[in-house]
Amino acid sequence: MHSIAWWRTHLGPEERAAVDRALAQEQVTQGRVTEQFEQEFAAALGVPYAVATTSGSMALLMGMIALGIEAGDEVIVPNQTFIATAHAARMLGARVVLVDTLPDRPVIDPERVAAALTPRTKLIVPVHLGGRAAPMEALIGLARQHGLAVLEDAAQALFSRRGGAVLGTDGDLGIYSLGITKFITTGQGGMVVTRSRELNDRLRLVRNHGVEDVLNERFDRFGFNFKFTDFQAAMGRVQLGRVPQHQASVEAVYREYSAAFSELRFLRPIPIATEAGELPLWVEVLCADRQRLIDHLAGHGIQARRYHPNLDRSPHLGPQGEFSASRVFGREGMMLPSGPGQSIDDVRRVIACLHQFSP
Ligand SMILES: Cc1ncc(COP(=O)(O)O)c(C=O)c1O
Repeated sequence: MHSIAWWRTHLGPEERAAVDRALAQEQVTQGRVTEQFEQEFAAALGVPYAVATTSGSMALLMGMIALGIEAGDEVIVPNQTFIATAHAARMLGARVVLVDTLPDRPVIDPERVAAALTPRTKLIVPVHLGGRAAPMEALIGLARQHGLAVLEDAAQALFSRRGGAVLGTDGDLGIYSLGITKFITTGQGGMVVTRSRELNDRLRLVRNHGVEDVLNERFDRFGFNFKFTDFQAAMGRVQLGRVPQHQASVEAVYREYSAAFSELRFLRPIPIATEAGELPLWVEVLCADRQRLIDHLAGHGIQARRYHPNLDRSPHLGPQGEFSASRVFGREGMMLPSGPGQSIDDVRRVIACLHQFSP
């Protein structure tokens, strides 16, 4: 029997043909195709500006540089996220201040954010984990009240919505990852979006060593090489066309598991408001006996993944506080095989195998 990977996506001959065409053009680095991809990406999210770069991690870093984050600043990050959210701030010498999540959802708790603010706080980075909306209204309210910037880490939430809001588009900046395990992919890739013309202009300079043209006579502001390539953009444009298909697939996978959860009492699905438009990128559950379940599935050729570890377990981020809510997600969270390329037959095989597990 074939093995089942924790994630499968869909790349076809259309991507290969588009990459081929892009390579045949004279300009391969960040040319016309990147521009088209940025415009189409921005239009799809309903924002005026999107700036492409090489990964979601670089998008975070580029965004923080554009917002002027520097050594000594404090940046608020949830304790439950992928390490890149914190490392981007660390790259700039800022202090990462970890804040616990809500008890029932792995997104940052705004009351705890309010308690963590100091005169050095410059930026709040809400993370829309697994397509779940962080409480943006409260966070933007706090940011306005205290003169702070908001950078939404929507790496895991592309095209996820909550009511009328498109996740990643309400803060000063929003970032997305286009890595292979994300909703659409360019292999590696990332995007920063904004509604601010000024920030868009700044991002474009930051992406190119701080200047419009590297042959300038002098360099007068900070930047680096965050440039994208046209063959990745070509792949991204084809992937944008697959959004409706990907959405239908991830929702079908999620529905199939959801119907089974009521009989699998040892699993507690991590809540996600699909009825409000939140997109379940991955199928995420809590299991008190997580490692034994992962081993059981592995024994049947099925790969499952642990959730991201809590960031307060990373000593290089410095001493942090108490984190009882996110502790549960970090200790018991896991992802079941999912993704737009995962077949429903394989999902049924996973569910059958879950039924064989004795908790
Ligand atoms: C919440 C979050 N932020 C940032 C990133 C970084 O994105 P990338 O892997 O494209 O660098 C990821 C990647 O999984 C992520 O999950």
